[in-house]
Amino acid sequence: MVIKVEKWVRLGERSYPLYVTCGDLDRLGETMAQFVRVSRWVVVTQRSIPPSFRRSFEKGLKRKAKVLAPLYIPNGERFKTVQTASRLYGQLAKARVERGDGLVALGGGVVGDLTGFVASTYLRGVPYVQIPTTLLAQVDSSIGGKTGVDLPVGKNLVGTFAQPRAVGIDVAALLSLPEREFRSGLAEVVKYGVIGELGFLGWLEAHRREIVRRDLSKLRHMVEVCAGFKSRVVGLDERETKGIRSILNFGHTLGHAMEVAGGYQRYRHGEAISMGMIFALRLGEALGITSRATLPRVSLLLKGFGLPIDPPRVSWSAIERALRLDKKIRDGKLRMLLAKRVGEVKVIPISFSSVRKEWNFWTGE
Ligand SMILES: NC(=O)c1ccc[n+]([C@@H]2O[C@H](COP(=O)([O-])OP(=O)(O)OC[C@H]3O[C@@H](n4cnc5c(N)ncnc54)[C@H](O)[C@@H]3O)[C@@H](O)[C@H]2O)c1
Ligand SMILES: [Zn+2]
Repeated sequence: MVIKVEKWVRLGERSYPLYVTCGDLDRLGETMAQFVRVSRWVVVTQRSIPPSFRRSFEKGLKRKAKVLAPLYIPNGERFKTVQTASRLYGQLAKARVERGDGLVALGGGVVGDLTGFVASTYLRGVPYVQIPTTLLAQVDSSIGGKTGVDLPVGKNLVGTFAQPRAVGIDVAALLSLPEREFRSGLAEVVKYGVIGELGFLGWLEAHRREIVRRDLSKLRHMVEVCAGFKSRVVGLDERETKGIRSILNFGHTLGHAMEVAGGYQRYRHGEAISMGMIFALRLGEALGITSRATLPRVSLLLKGFGLPIDPPRVSWSAIERALRLDKKIRDGKLRMLLAKRVGEVKVIPISFSSVRKEWNFWTGE
């Protein structure tokens, strides 16, 4: 079977293909190697990712190009660092990887962000492709060209905008994903349903059980819709300068503060975003911006996906401390995304006292 381009990510003059397939990593490798011409490929991955993924993908690549030995990075956000990048630079140099060679990021968001960062800086840039294997990476992090590493003082503080040459998604990779990772990724999926993809929230509601069961045909449609939506948004506002790409941050202002307050240990990203979206909808309702029907609908769906919708056990002071470091503060006000209704969100400047009031109301603090 031939793998066709599902969507093109269009960025002005440039564009790159987004392939979506199911259980066909071998063919995906061949298709991508045919499209992106390099002399040799190096796959960057993790040992916690099923080795069969790498073997199948490399088998496909090998029909069109040479493949060097894979490079492994350690598992976990705490290794998304300059040190790990530096080790990769050393390994690439030792293997004599040149500008005409390419990297493959095979894994979740950690592998993707780190590999993209290394690819965009090693030898001032070598081509790379993304093969996302977590739900979060398939619907979000692999598309859009944001790369980077964390610093001890904060996440994603060093990075580049560097688009991959292609993104290849095999939804069957989601079958081996630990339950908590899978559910966490569903929070971003619900986010797309709230911010804009018309009719998508209803589709998620109608197929909730099959999605939780990981029915592959449903997962495929779901990933196609989300990845397609993200690529359109990125195409309109590649560098987040036009206020369009920022709609992807729905639920992220409070969600991110909860992640920070929990020391990045207590909640997975998606769990925090689930609670962050609930908070944004409650706040919007309290301010008379969000239509009444929205919160119950979104809460029910998040809950059905096994995501947290009740307030976290985090103090206001910890939340406020994190919020004060938010990049989106202007004139002492938080610029938060609120939903008017499903499919319509806008940025609204909000005082800390309004946020606090709703926080106290929600948490009973
Ligand atoms: N660049 C962006 O635009 C962007 C957007 C959102 C998030 N991110 C970044 O993404 C990162 C989080 O990504 P993540 O949630 O994918 O976490 P992750 O990359 O740590 O992956 C989660 C775990 O799943 C394992 N895994 C991956 N695929 C698997 C599979 N198919 N089967 C079994 N195990 C598998 C991984 O080895 C890891 O242990 C964060 O660093 C975040 O900053 C980036
Ligand atoms: Zn997110």
